[in-house]
Amino acid sequence: MKRSHRILCVDDEDFNLDLLEALLRPHGYETLAAQNGREALAALAANPVDLVLLDINMPVMNGHEVCRRIKSDPQLSHIPVIMITSLDSKENKMAGMEAGAEEFLSKPFDQAELLLRIANILRSAEYEEAFEYLILALARAAEANDIDTGNHILRVGEYAALMARELKHSEKFTERIHTQATLHDVGKVHIPSHILKKPGRLNEEEMEEMKKHTTFGAMIIGDHPHLEFGRRIALCHHERWDGTGYPAGLKGAEIPIEARITAICDCYDALRNSRVYKPNYDHDGAVAIITKGDERMKPEHFDPEVLAAFVKLAPRFDELYRTMKDGGKPAEDLEKK
Ligand SMILES: [Fe+2]
Repeated sequence: MKRSHRILCVDDEDFNLDLLEALLRPHGYETLAAQNGREALAALAANPVDLVLLDINMPVMNGHEVCRRIKSDPQLSHIPVIMITSLDSKENKMAGMEAGAEEFLSKPFDQAELLLRIANILRSAEYEEAFEYLILALARAAEANDIDTGNHILRVGEYAALMARELKHSEKFTERIHTQATLHDVGKVHIPSHILKKPGRLNEEEMEEMKKHTTFGAMIIGDHPHLEFGRRIALCHHERWDGTGYPAGLKGAEIPIEARITAICDCYDALRNSRVYKPNYDHDGAVAIITKGDERMKPEHFDPEVLAAFVKLAPRFDELYRTMKDGGKPAEDLEKK
């Protein structure tokens, strides 16, 4: 049986915490309590939580800061946050929205309304979770035909989210790229496995066939608005800033930003994993090729702003690569990118 939903209530006043607990428990919710931001983050690190009810004015760390930290932590960012505040000002609400909160309620809140909003938000969080799960299942299905790519698709999603934050994109953008960058190579499901698994450089004809994984990807993902990011990433992740990429030879800002970000993440991971023809590179080797170029890759292939963010974040890429590496197995073949 599914466990009951667990709600973390964060408020510096005991009275409010008691009130929330008395309201929520009879409705089958488990509650956890924290009296400030620091305690809240500690509780989130120690327990699975389905929703956070967050007061804004608190000592130690205010609600906006807590929300920002939740939403910028890949382990926690999926948890919905409802901000409860006596400060009903527009600025407060704006700051809360910027921090990524899903809902707002003003104190004194209407109990029935709070319960209803909690139920609604938990239901949509479950749909969201199932949606993300299916995206990943689709990405994984497309890998079945390919060489062992290890955790490549997951790592690309993580790097891309890191880059999105560095480039100051919204939390929504970051969440989307985190999930949907995993679909970049979904079109490979249509590429014959003798090409995907060929242990050497592809001839011209095979390369032309391989390039079609971009348009196949866009075709598979289709035109649902919720998957717009994934479609553009699948279609444009081999386009290059200087216009020398494929399938359309788009140039500069014509290439959607989510694809420009994913491109550099994909290249970094591919360099570290390449197994045929070239040895896989260590971190410094991969960074050197991206920033200085080699016979195939050039810094001009990348959006300069995205490249600068990559250089800044490079140590974090290395960290992610190491922690998410699949037992050190060689994976994605750069020759076939
Ligand atoms: Fe690709």
